[in-house]
Amino acid sequence: MRVLVTGAGGQLGRELCQGHGTSAEVIGLDRRGLDVTDLAQCREAIAAWRPVVVIHAAAYTAVDRAEEEPDEAFRVNAAGTRNMALAAREGRAKFCYISTDYVFDGQASTPYNEYDAPNPLNVYGKSKLAGERLSQSLSDRWFIVRTSWVYGAHGANFVKTMLRLGAERERVQVVADQTGSPTWTKDLADFLLKLVSTEAYGIYHATNAGQCSWYEFARAIFEEKGLRTEAVPCTTGEFPRPARRPAYSVLDGAAARYNGLPAMRHWREALREFLQGWNE
Ligand SMILES: NC(=O)c1ccc[n+]([C@@H]2O[C@H](COP(=O)([O-])OP(=O)(O)OC[C@H]3O[C@@H](n4cnc5c(N)ncnc54)[C@H](OP(=O)(O)O)[C@@H]3O)[C@@H](O)[C@H]2O)c1
Repeated sequence: MRVLVTGAGGQLGRELCQGHGTSAEVIGLDRRGLDVTDLAQCREAIAAWRPVVVIHAAAYTAVDRAEEEPDEAFRVNAAGTRNMALAAREGRAKFCYISTDYVFDGQASTPYNEYDAPNPLNVYGKSKLAGERLSQSLSDRWFIVRTSWVYGAHGANFVKTMLRLGAERERVQVVADQTGSPTWTKDLADFLLKLVSTEAYGIYHATNAGQCSWYEFARAIFEEKGLRTEAVPCTTGEFPRPARRPAYSVLDGAAARYNGLPAMRHWREALREFLQGWNE
């Protein structure tokens, strides 16, 4: 199975390119190799590589900056996804679009399942939802995989930020009134490579199991690394950011269960394994 990964320079893209012990042949194209906002480049990449599956991990992911430059967020996440979905269809490839918990408004108090109604609060979430809709209308064999709070070895993320702050400071204030599910890129990449080998098309929620606040996540990072740094809980109001974020964005992986796909382990177990192997 030849898998073409867009956004191969990003956190998830780089992880996917490691292949994860599957027999898949993974071709990764980063932004220099394939700018998804250019339809001709998307068509050329499909014609050159003839993949069985496209995993579309390229995205505009700067959640706060998107509030100031919505056109750029939509250009990449909506128009770029349209281009890639169209090119994949023309090349008879399956299409897997990576989406986000930020398509939900966070008003729920129990985990969102795949068919709960999205209602994004910010420009990034709106642009990602537009990408979902274009994937559904333009590909005839699509997967949409929503994930959340992603971290891993490649690129900047919350875990690395906490490790840096933990080494510099005695106390770190962390938001305690947003709840979600941290997800390790390695576990997500394993799930994705299994999923795309099937024909169980549709929407999936794929995160590590369990839930926590950012504050609880930070505490767990310090504990697992044996750092003495104190995490101090604060409210979203005390830590104002340009983009609104959902207060509760835990995703229920119902579709994986009823399609017989493997469950992802608890976030704390994944974090422990990640940190055991992480020494930077
Ligand atoms: N990170 C999270 O917490 C999170 C949570 C939920 C969902 N997701 C979704 O998961 C997917 C992967 O996210 P990630 O964390 O790996 O993000 P990332 O590290 O920001 O990777 C995204 C990659 O897309 C590339 N890109 C941007 N515009 C492009 C274009 N026009 N053409 C080709 N490539 C382009 C970026 O390149 P540059 O570096 O050159 O800009 C970057 O390498 C995204 O769909 C994201 O929306 C992420």
